[in-house]
Amino acid sequence: MSYSNRRNRRVLRDADLMLYGRDLERSAINALVDGAREARGGVLVLRGRAGAGKSALLEDAVAAAGGVRALRATGVESEFELPFAALHQLLRPVLSDVDRLPAPQASALGMAFGLASNAQDNRFLVSVAVLGILDQLAEESPVLCVIDDAQWLDDASASALEFVARRVDADRIALLFGARDGDVRRFSAPGLPELRVDGLDAEAGGQLLAEQVGVPIPPEVLNRLMEATGGNPLALVELHSLITPGQLSGREPLPWPLPITDAVQRIFVQRVRRLPELTQRLLLVAAADETSRLATVLAAAAELGVPAAALDPAEHADLVAIQSGQLAFHHPLVRSSVYQSATDAERRSVHRALSEVLVEETDADRRAWHLALATVRPDESVVQLLEQTAVRAGVAAASKRPAWLWSVPQN
Ligand SMILES: Nc1ncnc2c1ncn2[C@@H]1O[C@H](COP(=O)(O)OP(=O)(O)OP(=O)(O)O)[C@@H](O)[C@H]1O
Ligand SMILES: [Mg+2]
Repeated sequence: MSYSNRRNRRVLRDADLMLYGRDLERSAINALVDGAREARGGVLVLRGRAGAGKSALLEDAVAAAGGVRALRATGVESEFELPFAALHQLLRPVLSDVDRLPAPQASALGMAFGLASNAQDNRFLVSVAVLGILDQLAEESPVLCVIDDAQWLDDASASALEFVARRVDADRIALLFGARDGDVRRFSAPGLPELRVDGLDAEAGGQLLAEQVGVPIPPEVLNRLMEATGGNPLALVELHSLITPGQLSGREPLPWPLPITDAVQRIFVQRVRRLPELTQRLLLVAAADETSRLATVLAAAAELGVPAAALDPAEHADLVAIQSGQLAFHHPLVRSSVYQSATDAERRSVHRALSEVLVEETDADRRAWHLALATVRPDESVVQLLEQTAVRAGVAAASKRPAWLWSVPQN
């Protein structure tokens, strides 16, 4: 079956492997592997955010690559300071072939992997040796090296693999990397061909959700869910357990902010937690502020002693973007995760700061709500403010509350 006529059908190659959509990504990977079969080796780096579906595509690639020898490695956060740790993972199944390499290469690799002592520590020779081993393997069958979580590769392994990737164009060797974007570490690999893995399209997202819940989802509900998750497969997979059948069928309103599981929250918060403390506080201010006005966020941050410069690491980490005086989270899940993972006290302090800077008459309602959220038990003055808000609005005060603040989680 060709990729084109699999369009948006679930691909079941083995019991564990099930993908919706992704025609474009699959054909690019297919072309890479076909190239290796025909001694036109190559490399492709899949880049995308947490939960975007990179690992799923790598699994799919291995399962689809019939007659190809697959070697696999995964960057491990705790090992990124250990030189050659990832290379060791990749080549462990074929280490017996080291002896067939020219002696200087064999000893350089032996030294790198701690198999030999007194040998020369020569990273160039190690890289040549890796190419040599893969070449030997490729005489028997095409070779596909699949390296996931490349952002956590130790530098020595990353350099060796990049060296190899630039020299396989006439070999039966392909390298396929998966690299998470927006983490504190980045797999830079300048010049290597890349493919972005974004959220699923509405059709594939709908199919994934429908499979999870067992019934089709009405288009308006699906639109809301796709918008809130950015089509992120991980969030979609986890979502169904948090939403009632009535909400999914459109009979009851969806909760807001959309709940996310601890697993999804952890994955997005991890990136935030590695940023400097002041930057994290600033992000919490931004998450609690629904105006998205940079000036408001910075003013409230200043109230908390956080300077504007604290925003830079968050921008560099690709978590927020600033344009025309607006501060936007790059992914809706980052905002929910930042807000929901904060402690109650932390949230109260940022709401207080926001209430103090929202002094314009047009912001009176917002000020009142932030003040209410800053207070454990609203005192008389806050209650009065809220009542004024209600009178001004001429409707239930509640309706003026920013929609996404509706279900403030309790810690
Ligand atoms: N196209 C798809 N169809 C069905 N399920 C998918 C698809 N893509 C991803 N998934 C599922 O979504 C979840 C997240 O995908 P995956 O683990 O591949 O993300 P990732 O990009 O590798 O994330 P991370 O950066 O955290 O490693 C998994 O449960 C996976 O099986
Ligand atoms: Mg992954």
